[in-house]
Amino acid sequence: MSANRPAAVVVLAAGEGTRMKSATPKVLHEICGRSLVGHVVTAARELDPAHLVVVVGHAREQVTAHLAQVDGAVRTAVQHEQNGTGHAVRMGLEALAAEGVTLSGTVLVTCGDTPLLTADTLAELSGAHAAQGNAVTVLSAQVPDATGYGRIVRGDGGAVTAIVEHKDASGEQRAIDEINSGVFAFDAALLADALGRVRTDNSQGEEYLTDVLGILRADGHRVGACLARDHHEIVGINNRVQLAQARRLLNDRLLERAMLAGVTVVDPATTWVDAGVTFEPDALVHPGTQLLGATHLAAGCEVGPNSQLTDTVVGADATVSNTVAVSARIGAQASVGPYAYLRPGTELGPKAKAGTYVEMKNARVGEGSKVPHLSYVGDATIGDHTNIGAASVFVNYDGEHKHHTTIGSHCKTGSDNMFVAPVTVGDGAYTAAGSVITKDVPPGSLAVARGQQRNIEGWVARKRPGSAAAQAAQGVGKPLGDGPADHGTA
Ligand code: UD1
Ligand code: CA
Repeated sequence: MSANRPAAVVVLAAGEGTRMKSATPKVLHEICGRSLVGHVVTAARELDPAHLVVVVGHAREQVTAHLAQVDGAVRTAVQHEQNGTGHAVRMGLEALAAEGVTLSGTVLVTCGDTPLLTADTLAELSGAHAAQGNAVTVLSAQVPDATGYGRIVRGDGGAVTAIVEHKDASGEQRAIDEINSGVFAFDAALLADALGRVRTDNSQGEEYLTDVLGILRADGHRVGACLARDHHEIVGINNRVQLAQARRLLNDRLLERAMLAGVTVVDPATTWVDAGVTFEPDALVHPGTQLLGATHLAAGCEVGPNSQLTDTVVGADATVSNTVAVSARIGAQASVGPYAYLRPGTELGPKAKAGTYVEMKNARVGEGSKVPHLSYVGDATIGDHTNIGAASVFVNYDGEHKHHTTIGSHCKTGSDNMFVAPVTVGDGAYTAAGSVITKDVPPGSLAVARGQQRNIEGWVARKRPGSAAAQAAQGVGKPLGDGPADHGTA
């Protein structure tokens, strides 16, 4: 348990977010593979609070169901009407009290729409709050444009005296560039008491959480501010322009972390990563690449350009070029693409290959085995060191059910084969080009499953007399390519 373990974190997420102009509640919009509120809850959880409460209101069934997936231990409190941030916190605390929870120590309050706020900054706020012995500490920030934010008002000695909302601020107060991030540390007992005394005589007729500062100060308690090191962390998302800006900032942060850990990112501007992606040193990412979900890049692998990997593991020293992969496992030193599509359940062994215009699904390919060109491999097991000829199809679907194909180790299957599942090709077997394999092939045999070739001599001369083909066949056509010029004068 950390020294500054909060008694509770309360996340405010009841607002509608009308400016998103969306059927999806604002806090469920995603950046970098996680919902906005998911980022906030993940950061809060890192502080290991005794209680983590999210205040929900607008679309609360949907938000609550989502939260249960993000973090099974989150509690929700319902705010039926959005009567202000102070009211929302009160609903959160009352829900805990109704369960018999008495809070003592620090309560952190944060918002569901500030996804860039880090656990480190929250911990810093909590630490400063405790060290200064404050009743309340606001996380403040200096911003280039303070429009819309509550301003931090300081007295002669520099002490924080109040937070004034933009709409309620005088011209002089609007010139202040230090703003309220909306994130606070409170003493639990003093917060509960002060919330009961917050009034609604302001321009919005709401219970402002920010009024708690003035109330506690008037009671003679210490009120402080902790300035955020990076004002980008506190950006709140209100519309889709800010959503894109926040995504860019978070992406930059994730890539920076990867690069400092030894990953080469050739072009950070066109490389996008989700928060759940992990890397080992000396992985290399080429331009135009999206790494999504729980994708992992092992040491020395090379991914891209122009690839999209979702929940995919890329083994050490493997290469993946111009590829789309979903829930695939790519073995060490394996080679994928260019232009491959690996669908869920694809497992490539070490040094295996899924080459150009190759699609795989639910397929296990053994060590050193290759599917180099123009093939579909679905519902299959391929042993080790087997080569699948170009333009082959694993015919897995009979229109009603999917069937499995098994191909052994050290096999060489011919080009343009159809493996009509269920079918098995034994170890060390060969198949002839153009075969439609419908019956099992015993180990070590050659299977030939195609029509016999028949040559009808003189057919062109009889059926296409005088044609270029006929002339060519007679040897009187113009010589092509390396004609007499190549054997010219001495
Ligand atoms: C609030 C602060 C402002 C600060 C800004 C930072 C107040 C009164 N103002 O302003 O000082 O600079 O955040 O972004 O606190 N919410 C509820 N229930 C409500 C009202 C709001 O849950 O009844 C939630 C919203 O969903 C949102 C958060 O509280 O997550 C902030 O509310 P919002 O209306 O966006 O406050 P601001 O006007 O931005
Ligand atoms: Ca806001």
